[in-house]
Amino acid sequence: MSYLSNANIQHHFHDVLIIGAGGAGLRCAQELADAKTRVAIISKVLPTRSHTVAAQGGINAALGNIKSDHWHWHMYDTVKGSDYLGDQDAIEYLCRAAPRAVYDLEHAGVPFSRLDDGSIYQRAFGGQSREFGEGGQALRTCAAADRTGHAILHAMYQQNLRTGTQFFDEFFALDLIQVDDRCHGVLAWDIANGTYHMFRAKSVILATGGAGRIFKTSTNAHICTGDGGALVLQAGLDIQDMEFFQFHPTGIADVGPLISEAVRGEGGYLINSEGERFMERYAPTAKDLASRDVVSRAIAREIMAGRGCGPKKDHALLKIDHLGKEAIMERLPNIHALALRFSGIDCTKEAMPVQPTAHYTMGGIPTNRFTEVIHQDKDLKEQVIHGLYAIGEAACSSVHGANRLGGNSLLEIIVFGRTCAKRILEQLQEESHHTDIDPDCWKTGVQRVERWFEKKDQQGLSIAACREQMQHIMQTYFSVYRDHAHMQEGIDQLEALASEMDQLSIQDTNRLFNTELIEALELENLMKLARTAAASALKRTESRGAHAREDFPDRDDEHWLQHSMASLIDEKVQLRYKPVRLQPISVESFPPKPRVY
Ligand code: FUM
Repeated sequence: MSYLSNANIQHHFHDVLIIGAGGAGLRCAQELADAKTRVAIISKVLPTRSHTVAAQGGINAALGNIKSDHWHWHMYDTVKGSDYLGDQDAIEYLCRAAPRAVYDLEHAGVPFSRLDDGSIYQRAFGGQSREFGEGGQALRTCAAADRTGHAILHAMYQQNLRTGTQFFDEFFALDLIQVDDRCHGVLAWDIANGTYHMFRAKSVILATGGAGRIFKTSTNAHICTGDGGALVLQAGLDIQDMEFFQFHPTGIADVGPLISEAVRGEGGYLINSEGERFMERYAPTAKDLASRDVVSRAIAREIMAGRGCGPKKDHALLKIDHLGKEAIMERLPNIHALALRFSGIDCTKEAMPVQPTAHYTMGGIPTNRFTEVIHQDKDLKEQVIHGLYAIGEAACSSVHGANRLGGNSLLEIIVFGRTCAKRILEQLQEESHHTDIDPDCWKTGVQRVERWFEKKDQQGLSIAACREQMQHIMQTYFSVYRDHAHMQEGIDQLEALASEMDQLSIQDTNRLFNTELIEALELENLMKLARTAAASALKRTESRGAHAREDFPDRDDEHWLQHSMASLIDEKVQLRYKPVRLQPISVESFPPKPRVY
């Protein structure tokens, strides 16, 4: 700690500080800046490198541009898709708000693909129906070819350049400035200059994205290290439903990059080593467009039964060549490029090798449907943490429950980005000034960095080796299928590895643009999230959505219509539970029933 005193810290004052410049953060900032709020975004990467850029297939809204549709059917599909773990008030809110959210994007300049009459193109996606599960497939996913996230992120960034949002690019958030039940700002590290910055704000928004990099094979960018969730855990708060991690059925085999569900939405289908369209056996009605957990399990089962493809019999094949080159290049150009680059396959001629790959963090920082961060006190009562909000994949407003529907993630970032801004605008009117904070509150954050510079010549693992071991453990013991013995073995290995974190050291002690330091800080974050995910998974003795246990194959609504709330108390994972909100805002509840596709 000798290196620094408070005098070395640069101070900034804003009304609102957003951590993360993906679609959620940018949508929120746009709304706030348009209302003349002093809003700043800090982001550990240049905004247009945020992971929203990688989203492919589209954004759901019941526009009914091709076939009739209604937000209530969208709500039903989302509740069913969540395996009844989703909070139905938040889901109703999301699905009702969807059409307006998409039209706002259109007006903000998102170049959606078009139908002949000029309206927005909509494709089929997994788990979508039109009549409460009985009727046909909906066409609900609004798309900009297969680069929808790219189109949205760039339009949102341009909007924020127009509004004058202040950006602090390549800043890493170290610690929330938190007093009791109120957040006052964040201490951050300027990666390029190696300096500390205290950002004071009346409202702080965590929009830091998911934690897919806790797994070895993932569609997620290397930056998806769950930084917001880890900040919340560090502040002694809860994180919700971390056992529910979505495996996308069609990552490119061995390497992970995403082959969009849009491929199956456009008419592609999966086959096994016998050339059989095996989804017909697992989901007789929806087939390849069943929800993701169902399709991922089906591929895993085929591989386990010896019907996997390739020399290692470890993947399925995804065929679209029958669509013809013209249709593929118009609607799926990015898929063509990705398959060629990462597997050497020209998908206009051959089937693509695919396998389930870690894709989406359904759990996260608990919020209510107004995006306010909530925490259970010692009497298990829900308290709002004033001035602290979470949106996007970092958050768990519980619209996805145990299994997210494809196309609902881009929707969530846009709907709740705007909602968060509206909520803050209501509350800012009552707050005319920044309140006093503890003069020593910078110390925890500074210590996080300085300890890496103080530790020299230790003999522990390298940062990269430790991260690889953690990812390997998660991939091996907490994958598509789970059981008690394997998960316990995984937890034992993970806890042993976590206890070695103190012995790790970095080789590069330069303060300027020290990427090894950033990887060390990210590893600390990942480790926290992996530990809470593993502990939450072991405790949940049922199968629901993405959490499929061989030893407890059935859903258990009597005991487990509950959200897992994990925290780190004295460095140990502590678990508590809270009931699922089955009551929507204005319509009747969809009661849990068997989930068939
Ligand atoms: O398959 C996809 O294009 C992914 C979409 C999503 O995760 O929402």
